[in-house]
Parts: sequence; C-alpha cells; structure tokens
Amino acid sequence: MALLKVECLTKRFGGLVALDRVSLEVEEGHIMGVIGPNGAGKTTLFGTISGFHKPQEGAVYFRGRRIDGLKPHRICKMGLVRTFQIAQPFPGFTPLETLVTAALNTLPLARARKRAREVLEMVGLAEKAQEEGGNLTIADQKALEVGKAIATGGRLILLDEVMAGLTVLEAQTMMSLVKRLQAQGFTFLMVEHVMYVIMKLCDRIVVLNFGQKIAEGTPGEIAGNKTVIDAYIGEEAAVAG
Ligand SMILES: Nc1ncnc2c1ncn2[C@@H]1O[C@H](COP(=O)(O)OP(=O)(O)OP(=O)(O)O)[C@@H](O)[C@H]1O
Ligand SMILES: [Mg+2]
Repeated sequence: MALLKVECLTKRFGGLVALDRVSLEVEEGHIMGVIGPNGAGKTTLFGTISGFHKPQEGAVYFRGRRIDGLKPHRICKMGLVRTFQIAQPFPGFTPLETLVTAALNTLPLARARKRAREVLEMVGLAEKAQEEGGNLTIADQKALEVGKAIATGGRLILLDEVMAGLTVLEAQTMMSLVKRLQAQGFTFLMVEHVMYVIMKLCDRIVVLNFGQKIAEGTPGEIAGNKTVIDAYIGEEAAVAG
C-alpha cells in the first residue's frame, strides 16, 4: 500500500481551477518530485494534501486512512507535514526552542527537549542551537524548516521549494540532508524548480501544468518526455542557459 494516495483531486478558487483531477501515489521511503511552471498548482497540491485547503472533489489517503477535510494539525499529528515556500520562523525563538515547540506536537516536555537536540544534530544546526532565529542564514532557516517537520513526528514531509535562494554549495548540503533522511526512512514529496536537484534526488517525478498532471515517471523518463519539455523543461533550460 502506498503511504500517500491522492485520487482525482480538484481544487477551485472561485472560477480558477488550481488542481484539476490530480492523482498520484507516493511509496514509503521514496522521494517524489513535483515540477511545473509558476502557477501550475504545486503549492495548492501541498496545501490540499496537508489540510490547508478543502478540495471540491477527490480524496487523499495517508497510510490507508482518508484525510481530506481534516484540519492541518490533525493531519500533522498523523505524521504528514508540509514546509512552506517562504520559511516560517517562530519569531524570537532560537532553533532549539523552535524544535522543542515542534516536538511538543507529539511528545511531553522532557522527551520533546531530547528529540529537539537529536533533530538539531540531524539537520546540522547543533552548533547554532542557541542562536537568535533572526540571525540564521537562509540555508539554516531552510534546514530548520525541515527540522521542524521532523520534530513534529512527521514521516511524510512535503518540501515546497526548499532549495530556493540557496547557493550551489548550500543546495548540495540540503540535498545530502534529504538523502540522509530518506536513508533513515523518511518519505518526501518535493516541489522544486532547480532541475538538477529534482533529477538527482527523486525516485519519481510528477509534472503539473495548469492544474493538470501532464506526466509522471522516473527522472530519465521525464527528462526525455516531449510534452514536459514543451511545457516546462525547455523554458527552465533556456532560463538556466
Ligand atoms: N488562496 C488562493 N486563492 C485564490 N487563488 C489562489 C490561491 N492560491 C493559489 N491560487 C491560484 O492558483 C493557481 C496555482 O497556484 P500555486 O500557488 O499552487 O502555483 P505553484 O505551482 O505553486 O506556483 P509557483 O511555482 O509560482 O510557486 C495560481 O493561478 C494562483 O494564483
Ligand atoms: Mg508554489
């Protein structure tokens, strides 16, 4: 059984169809990428899976349980967590305090403190445990976002453009973090515009365009798919080149 199953999901904002009958499945331990042009519906897909939006049609199953219509905090407690395209720091909190707060989602205080320390190590922020949150670099803030998701008890993590704004070196550090977490059993669904990251990290890729899924496959299959190149990769390559 897939860890996440999205069935024929439709989300409309007024007359705008942001998601149009999108279906996909994510296997436990996999990294699935979601790509597509700006406005394709990627963030809306994440918001709808994680309970921030209620879909007009379709269903979302996590570990076989139907979760669409549940509130985000309920879904989070079940182990499905999203990060945000723009990092959402807790104002005035150090990384340690942030992660303790996140861990209190599922743990009592003493264990939350211990878990927060472990997660700081996992995401490479142990040395910055007591820094003021506002002093963190973008890369550290992004690592902290991933840490937050893990500290809440998340097992399926939805990463929305976690590489955006990072230097090549920082992106490589983030890629190894995601790989390491995958090796520890975490599952990821990630939206990313940086193509080499998607191609390198993902087991499978889903392509959205105008709210519709236009392709799905392995990185190799997607890289050679003409519809995808026309809709997206060509444009990205042109920008990159
Ligand atoms: N809360 C909202 N209310 C109304 N329209 C929305 C809302 N959220 C998204 N939309 C619209 O839905 C469409 C899909 O937006 P979405 O943010 O999901 O795209 P995206 O693929 O994440 O784009 P980007 O790559 O720029 O982040 C866009 O046309 C957007 O303007
Ligand atoms: Mg988006």
